[in-house]
Amino acid sequence: MGIAREVFGDALPIAERYAEFLADAGVERGLIGPREADRLWERHLINCAVVAEAVPENARVVDIGSGAGLPGLVLAIVRPDLSITLLEPLLRRTNFLIEAVDLLGLENVEVRRGRAEEVVKEFSMDVATARAVAPLERLARWALPLLRPGGELLAMKGERAAAEIEEAAPVLKRFGVRTTELLQVGQGKVEPPTTLVRVVADRAPRPAKGSKKRSS
Ligand SMILES: C[S@@+](CC[C@H](N)C(=O)[O-])C[C@H]1O[C@@H](n2cnc3c(N)ncnc32)[C@H](O)[C@@H]1O
Repeated sequence: MGIAREVFGDALPIAERYAEFLADAGVERGLIGPREADRLWERHLINCAVVAEAVPENARVVDIGSGAGLPGLVLAIVRPDLSITLLEPLLRRTNFLIEAVDLLGLENVEVRRGRAEEVVKEFSMDVATARAVAPLERLARWALPLLRPGGELLAMKGERAAAEIEEAAPVLKRFGVRTTELLQVGQGKVEPPTTLVRVVADRAPRPAKGSKKRSS
């Protein structure tokens, strides 16, 4: 528990309550696999909490496909300065998230039911996060329109991170992306450290090929 204390600090009791809720209601309602209950801290809570190292202060964050709240709810616990929207299309999951936010007494979280591609007009966020939602090529198409110019996507990825960047190159180019880079966070806290793909949105997407310019 030494690392958990280091990572969560004063928020550790809230993280412990969330871990209990995941192990209990999360498993019972099928949001977390039964085998995950024994490795919640290392694989889920700490792994997600270290993403905070890459999130700027006071950022407005949308967590796309939050599921049971990973990583968005963990970020809200560890970083009270952030304003977090948990975006999730499935009712069973948004109900779970609303209950969790209430149970943990978090005031910096909103739960929004919907698909990323359906809520574009509502958001102009500083940061979008996502874990295990879609390959970067599709995730970028969903996330970049939710960001303000200069906002950034932080996608938690595994060993295929570099390959996914290559596959997403045409989409990233079309969106006028300025920077795409691999980051490692959680050095010395999680083994292996968490890999993030950081994509900085530059400007509005160019019109798709074949679309016509409006004449004035
Ligand atoms: C494999 S789960 C991962 C959940 C969580 N991020 C985690 O790491 O445990 C993928 C989640 O993405 C959500 N999802 C799928 N398509 C989506 C979309 N178009 N917009 C937002 N969320 C989506 C699903 O409902 C599901 O909860």
